[in-house]
Amino acid sequence: MKNGRGKDRDYPWWSPQVTPKEYELVREVLDSNYLNEGDYTTRFENEIAQLLGVKHAIAVTSGTSALFLALAALGIGPSDEVIVPDVTFIATANAVKLTGAIPVLVDIDPDTLTISPGAVESAITQRTRAIIPVHVSGRAADLNAIMSIAKKYDLFIVEDAAEAFMSSIDGKYLGTFGNAGCFSFSPNKTISTGQGGMIVTNDDDLHIILRQLKDQGRPKRGTGGDDIHYSVGYNFKLTNLQAAIGLGQLSVLHNRLQRQKEIYTIYSDHFENSSNVSIIGFKINRGEIPLWTDAIIERRDVVESYLQKMGIHCRKFWYPIHTQKPYFQNDALFSQSTQLMSKAMWLPSAFILEDTDVEYVCNQIKRFFG
Ligand SMILES: Cc1ncc(COP(=O)(O)O)c(C=O)c1O
Repeated sequence: MKNGRGKDRDYPWWSPQVTPKEYELVREVLDSNYLNEGDYTTRFENEIAQLLGVKHAIAVTSGTSALFLALAALGIGPSDEVIVPDVTFIATANAVKLTGAIPVLVDIDPDTLTISPGAVESAITQRTRAIIPVHVSGRAADLNAIMSIAKKYDLFIVEDAAEAFMSSIDGKYLGTFGNAGCFSFSPNKTISTGQGGMIVTNDDDLHIILRQLKDQGRPKRGTGGDDIHYSVGYNFKLTNLQAAIGLGQLSVLHNRLQRQKEIYTIYSDHFENSSNVSIIGFKINRGEIPLWTDAIIERRDVVESYLQKMGIHCRKFWYPIHTQKPYFQNDALFSQSTQLMSKAMWLPSAFILEDTDVEYVCNQIKRFFG
């Protein structure tokens, strides 16, 4: 069961993997007896900053805390409005709530499942302070359009790149376009630290505020006894133990990214002319990396149960945020997300799947549709 493939025929939607490197690095941390945030965290931050070509990377406890801290560091709080897509993991909206600001939900572009720039512009009010484009499954939101809207109305951009680590568009990594970009290292991501997150920014002043906010308002951690606290702050430290796992995971990063592209390509080739299954495209040639392959499938729920019986595990898309109790609104305001989310599903995308496994999944889906 260790690799998520306990049975002979088991096709996981996702399966995190650890390598011997993680064991080695975690042992080093344990031997050092310094389990708190420390040198390994700094190394992890530096490696990520270098990989993404940004000035600053700040490690935190999760993607959710990364989003919250980025917004809070930009001064967003009560009575401000932040524009969020209706299709995302609910953490995006919850992080806005945590600042006291109001998440304003808008519809998506049906071709990319990312935030619709037209809907963003229509939702802007006097109170709007920021937009959070979410790069769903690693697919870039329309950054050209969103950046120019932000410029026109003087708004901040915090990219939710939780699912887009190392995905890029035309030579620039997702997460590095806006004022800040937020990543998640939860178990279903390309690299995982169990739970963990990272904020990246090129803004030196924002970096200083972020460091303070994540550690009780201290610019520098001392003994705790005679520390100087410049502001209110929190505890969102990522420990050496977690960072050691992250560093180990980075040692196989490029193989994983390559595998993710290969898996997506098998699916997209198989269903190129299908009338029942539409694989949502990735611009692989322009740098996008599919974390997971997502599809719009007719009779989705029946297909999902049919596959499940064969050990083929898919994941249905999130319900649109506007249908969830804390954010409830009328479906009529969100025609695209309402229509698409009952048909959207992630296909098995674990990087341990072999080509023949992915082909088997494709053939079973084809068999279902006769
Ligand atoms: C789009 C999106 N935003 C935010 C998050 C929150 O990240 P975390 O689970 O690390 O808090 C996730 C996922 O896990 C996500 O997929």
